[in-house]
Amino acid sequence: MKRVPENELMNEPQQVKVYSEADFSCSDNAFLQNLDEFLQSVNKSPVEGTRIVDLGCGPGNITHLLSKRWPLSLVRGIDGSEAMLDIAKSRQNNICLNNKSIKYDCIDISLLANNTNYIGLNADVVVSNSFLHHLHDPSCLWKAIRKLLVPGSFFFHRDLRRPSSTKEAIELQQKHLPNAPSLLIRDFLASLHASFTVYEVKEQLLLENFQNFKVREVEDRYLEIYGSV
Ligand SMILES: C[S@@+](CC[C@H](N)C(=O)[O-])C[C@H]1O[C@@H](n2cnc3c(N)ncnc32)[C@H](O)[C@@H]1O
Repeated sequence: MKRVPENELMNEPQQVKVYSEADFSCSDNAFLQNLDEFLQSVNKSPVEGTRIVDLGCGPGNITHLLSKRWPLSLVRGIDGSEAMLDIAKSRQNNICLNNKSIKYDCIDISLLANNTNYIGLNADVVVSNSFLHHLHDPSCLWKAIRKLLVPGSFFFHRDLRRPSSTKEAIELQQKHLPNAPSLLIRDFLASLHASFTVYEVKEQLLLENFQNFKVREVEDRYLEIYGSV
């Protein structure tokens, strides 16, 4: 099935509300577990002061889990949607009043990719979840992480992967989001149509000189990309 890009930023108020209220805890926890296993396999578990950047952090589900798992690290969530970040910040205030280790910045990834002003924003670990498929030009992610990562840094991304047909996309929706609000179902189907295949991601990595990053299929609808520079 041909890729159909969706809107990049998620900033429609109702869309943001429905997304932030949805329960993604299973896939969020799986994200953290696989990240943890990957970092342990390379002996690089975050320690005090480790800089972790969560790109396209949305309402901060993963950002918060990262800070909880590695409380001494410095976690930064970046998203281009103010509406998403407002929710992320209010959750941070509600959950953990004293937690100053998470910072949120509203930055569009295309600026990170193309603008040298952000050159000081280096990170030891860059992660993203469900983000690449939003980008009309996926090279923005690869150019941005080229700027963020320093030698020895790690990258871990989890995303949907594109099914072979609309029929398969609808079957995945009926299996995994059978009773969700209609807006969430709309966005899930749009995301499946906008996502990349493993083959396409491998091509992107070759083009951007990240040949050492690995890509793998996970379960019936995800892919993971991970590696170090
Ligand atoms: C599907 S959400 C994922 C949010 C979060 N990572 C999670 O796992 O719940 C995708 C996020 O990417 C953000 N986004 C999309 N395009 C972007 C861009 N060009 N620059 C920055 N953020 C972007 C959206 O605003 C949205 O918050």
